[in-house]
Amino acid sequence: MGISILGLGSYVPEQKLTNNDFTRFVDTNDEWIRTRTGIIERRMAGWEPTWYMGTQAALKAVEQAGISPEDIGLVISCTATSDFHTPSMASVIQHKTGAVNAAAFDINAACSGFVYALDIAERFLRTDDSLKYVLVAANESLSRFLDFEDRSSCILFGDGAAAAVVERSDKLYASHLASDGSGAGYLCARALKAAPEVKQDSDFVDEFPDMPLHKLYQNGKEVYKFATHALPKSFELAAAKCGITKDEIDWFIPHQANIRIIETAAKKLGAPMEKFIVTLDHYGNTSSVSIPLTLNEAAADGRIVRGQKLALIGFGAGLTYGGIILEF
Ligand code: COA
Repeated sequence: MGISILGLGSYVPEQKLTNNDFTRFVDTNDEWIRTRTGIIERRMAGWEPTWYMGTQAALKAVEQAGISPEDIGLVISCTATSDFHTPSMASVIQHKTGAVNAAAFDINAACSGFVYALDIAERFLRTDDSLKYVLVAANESLSRFLDFEDRSSCILFGDGAAAAVVERSDKLYASHLASDGSGAGYLCARALKAAPEVKQDSDFVDEFPDMPLHKLYQNGKEVYKFATHALPKSFELAAAKCGITKDEIDWFIPHQANIRIIETAAKKLGAPMEKFIVTLDHYGNTSSVSIPLTLNEAAADGRIVRGQKLALIGFGAGLTYGGIILEF
């Protein structure tokens, strides 16, 4: 069994931040950011809360799917930057889209979130005949967690939302999800001010670096090493499950973190860069949103068409990674 993506939608905030805009608060320049990351501009949420962006994207996906919101049986939202610890973004989006008959929950697998959520949707559809449609909604406001004094991380990220409505089908589908929690300290942000102090003699202290409360901390070099390894590995593990080769894939849609990560991974895989869809130049790294945002853009402009074989590949904090191979 597999899934069919019936509808896609996205929403990005109105506010754009160019590389030059960052020179106002950190010592950087457009040339450094372009050559080291491939990013030219990104969107930053202003007045828009995460749930609002998620709802806008979800409404468009439902409309494109041509279904009624009441027919949705499950809303899965993926986010690492929820507006609330509780309720979930999924419950809010369920209400705002009118998906009154749906169950709803969030998952946090950071930048791999969409791959994880889509795979959970497939598993729900496979095991519950009464479920017809699942709404998978990715929503992120990274800007609210960025440390705008850290020039090596704040320039990387952007905000936005993207969603997909899926149903069960017999089309090609294979997936592999993975995590290496030993790298959890390489990309992290504290959640609760009220978290108890960890005793200084605890082993746990070494795992997580000192970081300003609620601000994203990143060890760029370690994350880079992990990502260039995880991207080809995720594809190969998913491909092995359905016996497909890289040459049979029409489009690779990797998480949009850094153009150099994608280029290095493409070389390792032995697949041409022309098959990798890139949107990070105008959106930056939007975490779990980046894959459906890219998918939606390339489907809307006619690059991705029905019947093509896609490889969706996520990697990110956790350190999580995973790949899905499916027919569009
Ligand atoms: N502007 C100008 N200079 C900057 C800069 C910026 N925005 N950020 C860092 N630098 C400086 C560093 O301070 C360092 O200066 P120094 O040599 O005087 O100490 C120099 O540039 C080189 O830094 P380095 O960290 O070696 O750069 P890099 O080539 O490794 O690139 C990243 C840094 C963050 C772009 C890169 O490590 C990366 O992309 N990592 C993965 C991040 C990622 O994708 N995270 C999300 C994954 S889901």
